[in-house]
Amino acid sequence: MRLQDKVTVITGAGGGMGRTAARMFAAEGARVVCVDVSEEIAESAAAEVKAAGGQATSVAADVSQEDQAKRMIDHAVATFGRVDALYNNAGIMPAADHSVIDTDVATWDKVMAVNVRGVFLGCKYAIPRMVDQGAGSVINVASFVAILGCSVPQDAYTASKGAVLALTKSLAVQFAPHGVRTNSISPGPIETPLLMDWLVKDEEAKRIRLARNPTGRFGKPEEIVHVALYLASDESRWTNGANLVIDGGITVNYF
Ligand SMILES: NC(=O)c1ccc[n+]([C@@H]2O[C@H](COP(=O)([O-])OP(=O)(O)OC[C@H]3O[C@@H](n4cnc5c(N)ncnc54)[C@H](O)[C@@H]3O)[C@@H](O)[C@H]2O)c1
Repeated sequence: MRLQDKVTVITGAGGGMGRTAARMFAAEGARVVCVDVSEEIAESAAAEVKAAGGQATSVAADVSQEDQAKRMIDHAVATFGRVDALYNNAGIMPAADHSVIDTDVATWDKVMAVNVRGVFLGCKYAIPRMVDQGAGSVINVASFVAILGCSVPQDAYTASKGAVLALTKSLAVQFAPHGVRTNSISPGPIETPLLMDWLVKDEEAKRIRLARNPTGRFGKPEEIVHVALYLASDESRWTNGANLVIDGGITVNYF
């Protein structure tokens, strides 16, 4: 199996891509730590893994809170003895996040807290463990919106994902000498609650997003998780500091 016994902390494991990741990682032999805001959500993801015969534990943590981020890594170590991969997948995209000219400061700060501080804090507590082990893989989820402008603005979200890309490169350079690789994935629009809840309310936003996509469809969670699986596995041992853009070709489409 590609991830035999690798301990993987997945944040946002109760959501669209996180839940799929928990299932697919466990099917490849990983021991999965399912993290989400409530115990109920995190536990339901772990229960799905266990029902399919995989190994999983759950912990409630708001990744934007330092004590809780520390607790999720401590829980992984206490339960499974180590942390081989940190999959920073949790993220938010609130409807109130729009253009800079009409986004309130509270919304901006909340998006930054979860999408950027959350990645920082996960790394702050996982990377020292990985350095002690002499090996580890950090997988940060950014977005295609961080690398091109969008006429349907979500400026806090876009800026937050740009920060994730920049941080990924810095970590890749700092910690590769200690055996810890850091990479990001920039998904295009994927059929998960995060995107669909928003698009069902806005037909025009949906039309624009599909018109730009050469494949003519949204992506599926497993089409991103396959890439994360590669990054968590030893197959990617020389992949470091990369941003893997998986978007059906949107970002190479001029018209
Ligand atoms: N769906 C897309 O089109 C798309 C595209 C590009 C990038 N992304 C990114 O992919 C990642 C996963 O997105 P998704 O579409 O599966 O979203 P989702 O909304 O389906 O799931 C996100 C999960 O994160 C959890 N979460 C939210 N805030 C949290 C916090 N503070 N602490 C811990 N957990 C928290 C939620 O409870 C939820 O279970 C996100 O980082 C998102 O920004 C999504």
